[in-house]
Amino acid sequence: MFDQHSPVGVLDSGIGGFSVVRQVQRLLPGENLLYFGDGAHIPYGNHGEKTIAAMARYMFRFMEERGVKALLVACNTISCVVEQCRDVVSCPVFSAVQAGADAAARLEADKVGVISTVFTHNSRIYPKKIQALSPRKVVVLSCGCPDLARLVEHSLGDPAGMARVEENLRLELDPMVRKEGVECCVLGCTHYPLVADSIHRLYPGLPLIDPAEEMARSLMTYLDRERLSNPQRGPGTLTVYTTGDVAEYALRARQVGLERVAGVEFYPPMEIV
Ligand code: DGL
Repeated sequence: MFDQHSPVGVLDSGIGGFSVVRQVQRLLPGENLLYFGDGAHIPYGNHGEKTIAAMARYMFRFMEERGVKALLVACNTISCVVEQCRDVVSCPVFSAVQAGADAAARLEADKVGVISTVFTHNSRIYPKKIQALSPRKVVVLSCGCPDLARLVEHSLGDPAGMARVEENLRLELDPMVRKEGVECCVLGCTHYPLVADSIHRLYPGLPLIDPAEEMARSLMTYLDRERLSNPQRGPGTLTVYTTGDVAEYALRARQVGLERVAGVEFYPPMEIV
């Protein structure tokens, strides 16, 4: 079971969920956070549904064993299969897609763009949710990017890599922004907010929706309401677990500006048969 002192779990296929950790650390600095990034299996977005759900359940079990009081499914791709995983944990689960759709539906926009992984795009989850939630007759254009998350995962701080990221961003976003004229764009994959500066430079004035902000606010509301906020006086810590490269995760955490990193540890990946 969990109580006020329990950590908050954040999971993602890779380092993308650091964009969610960043927002939670800003809004709720007193919380202790546990992060799980499945570096061995990224990109999730190019896998099939059964494999994604199995890998997600593995991470959910990890979090349940550590008694988290809330689980943030930072990964949009995993959020698409979240109903297949909820039974694994006893705490509430927050989905990135729900957060992104809630934020998009509140906007006064008639044409909304969404960029995401191919899996999220094919599921049509964003268009369906935004159209169901919005009081307007909103058009939602969705674009699935097969390479972008992987490029971002390994390119932060590397000028040649970032040039490839920007080239890929133009390839994926130009048709939606320049041709179709979307009024805003949902960053429907956690990796993309990590390169928001590049997107702003390429498309100045295009409002970007980062589901991470909404997720952090929903978490705060839940912790307040249930009296589960951590009462400790000092700031909370962040412990990162990865099935990937520990040194790379430590570097990325610094590059993204995460604070109070208590440790970065290896955790064995699930075997995919
Ligand atoms: N960052 C993940 C998301 O939000 C997906 C990246 C991937 O593993 O393909 O969808």
